[in-house]
Amino acid sequence: MTACGNKSEENLEGVSCSIDSECETVADTENSEKTEDTTENQTDIDYLILVNKENKLPEDRESKIELVEVQNAYDETIRVEKEALEKYNELRDALLEEWIDIELDSSYRSVEKQQQVWDDFEKEKWLEYAQKYVAVPWYSEHHTALAIDICIKKDGVLIYENEDMIAEPEIFAKIHEKLADYGFILRYLEWKEDITGYSYEPRHLRYVWDVNVAKEIMDNGLTLEEYLNKLEK
Ligand code: DAL
Ligand code: ZN
Repeated sequence: MTACGNKSEENLEGVSCSIDSECETVADTENSEKTEDTTENQTDIDYLILVNKENKLPEDRESKIELVEVQNAYDETIRVEKEALEKYNELRDALLEEWIDIELDSSYRSVEKQQQVWDDFEKEKWLEYAQKYVAVPWYSEHHTALAIDICIKKDGVLIYENEDMIAEPEIFAKIHEKLADYGFILRYLEWKEDITGYSYEPRHLRYVWDVNVAKEIMDNGLTLEEYLNKLEK
């Protein structure tokens, strides 16, 4: 079901991530017209876009995203928004210095891919369960390529199921503590299911670009919905 989950342990042993050397920009017509200077393009992308159970992905959104295609450590192709990937790599390196090994599991999903994830989940579990963990197509922030699901490796063992990650609160506390420094927030918080509409997902990170915004959200235990509501007032 997850990218990491599809891999056998045999495939994972001794394979190191080669994200930096393997990165390749996916050129679509629109993106190929962009300049190399990404700072000029930052305003084109709304990094605070809200996609949730009530807010659908805008129809024109996908053509505005600059996707970078990368192989994760398990040789799976993952596509991520360009700046989100750069910052994710910095976050991963900082965590590695503390012996915490995170890996990309999933990021950009097309509408068709989200449908497949939904169908698989519903088949394997049941409808109410799926509704707590998976968005229906067009209503997933994975369409924005700003959402990143991670998996972790602990003592050589890959942990990729959400329940198993919840059982590692100390590791995830350290991961979550660092997110804001790199412009990421934790999107589906524990105790905030009534606001986000989803159960706690320690693995689901969301890039918001602005470190100060990320810090305000994380320091105050806010959801993106709460932060955006505050901004409007
Ligand atoms: N797991 C999140 C809610 C998604 O499917 O977008
Ligand atoms: Zn996710």
